[in-house]
Amino acid sequence: QIAGPCGLVLFGVTGDLSRKKIMPAIYDLANRGLLPPGFSLVGFARRDWADQDFAQVVHDSVKSYARTEFREEVWQQLAEGFRFVPGDFDDDVAFDQLRRTIEELDLARGTDGNHAFYLAIPPGFFGNVVGQLKEHGLADGGGPDSWRRVVVEKPFGHDLESARELNAVLADVFPSGSIFRIDHYLGKETVQNILAMRFANTMFEPIWNANYVDHVQITMAEDGGIGGRAGYYDGIGAARDVIQNHLLQLMSLVAMEEPTSFDAESLRIEKQKVLSSVVLPRRLDLTTARAQYAEGWAGGEKVAGFLQEEGIKKSSTTETYAAVTLNIDTRRWAGVPFYLRTGKRLGRRVTEVAIVFKKAPHQPFSASSTEDLTENALVIRIQPDEGVTLRFGSKVPGTAMEIRDVNMDFAYGGSFTESSPEAYERLILDVLLGDPPLFPRHEEVELSWKILDPILEHWAKQDAAGKGKPDTYESGTWGPKSADAMLARDGRTWRRP
Ligand code: BG6
Repeated sequence: QIAGPCGLVLFGVTGDLSRKKIMPAIYDLANRGLLPPGFSLVGFARRDWADQDFAQVVHDSVKSYARTEFREEVWQQLAEGFRFVPGDFDDDVAFDQLRRTIEELDLARGTDGNHAFYLAIPPGFFGNVVGQLKEHGLADGGGPDSWRRVVVEKPFGHDLESARELNAVLADVFPSGSIFRIDHYLGKETVQNILAMRFANTMFEPIWNANYVDHVQITMAEDGGIGGRAGYYDGIGAARDVIQNHLLQLMSLVAMEEPTSFDAESLRIEKQKVLSSVVLPRRLDLTTARAQYAEGWAGGEKVAGFLQEEGIKKSSTTETYAAVTLNIDTRRWAGVPFYLRTGKRLGRRVTEVAIVFKKAPHQPFSASSTEDLTENALVIRIQPDEGVTLRFGSKVPGTAMEIRDVNMDFAYGGSFTESSPEAYERLILDVLLGDPPLFPRHEEVELSWKILDPILEHWAKQDAAGKGKPDTYESGTWGPKSADAMLARDGRTWRRP
């Protein structure tokens, strides 16, 4: 579906996110013919730039990061809709100029008063910007048939209280249906496919419960370190950066009941039920793990440890690895732990959901025939190598009865010729179409913090009492010993993807 007449105003044009994700996604959408012909993009930043300077920045970003081929005619048409407004977030004159720019575009490009404001800026500034949008008649301008939407990026706060405050700041200016919170994992094809797999087929749902499932492991591993993001990352850490949003969203999709339809409201209801049924184990010291990467190896090169990274305080207790155990107190999931882990500088970059099944209650084969057999597992490979693997036991060819694990594999590349759009393409298009199912609502954000807050408080208390601090793990390995011990206590082991 092609977006109707509209434009996007981008705050934070000089940031990494704009350069690496948002600008290239806009070009790719244009290149795929999914943007309206008069689409406009207005950049807003504290820079002494003219429209052409802004266009050059977008051009460089598109050349470096766009996924589709560069086509001069597409670029030219898109770039005609670029404008730049210099100013900072407290600058009334700049916001007046922004309003005039939008009005000019409505006439010149036919954007018809429809504009989305994308806040690719630290959340500390959300209040200033939406306040200015309201004051300068930008939040609800444009007339009865036009729309105004706001797009925000995480972190949505750093705990429940600050998340509530942020949500209130947004809700004060925009109605809930006009607020689009980006969790880019929901824009990934493979993440959306979790629902397709579960609810478009018959064979998975009957075994998708505590009768058959032993436990679930959700892993998001990265081989990279914090890169140049010390300023953002120190004090945030892996749990806030990834578990609060991406991993809890993944868990909700894996654990939820069938929604009555695929609309935003039905999905929210089901995700919310999962998140509000989460119960933490009593002993957080035994059921969570956190650690920092020490020096080691990545991609064949020696790399520095977290505390040696530029911009990180030597005394930092920010975790670059976090693992948690969650229980979902419902009939479907009673007694099935969900283990979530994420870390930087791990063995390799991989995100996957593994549904690990119970062992067969009885084996008619001798113990020696099945000694190499592990549990059946269904592994949804979110990235890279997108696909699904089913692990089960099979007879080894030969005269003896020996049973060993084999894998049955579905790979996107082998089954589809269509390429997957980048997550940001899908999500930006959905914002412009006003299609909200893939955006977490404020209830989900707040419930996620409610789950995480006690864990973060537990860690902070340990730090304050000098009783514990993050463990360490060598870069390029699969995380700290404490995370292995966490599963070993339950008689389980982490998968090595
Ligand atoms: C972001 C986190 O949300 O996701 C980053 O802030 C992380 O720390 C990134 O590197 C990973 O995204 P992806 O799509 O590469 O898995």
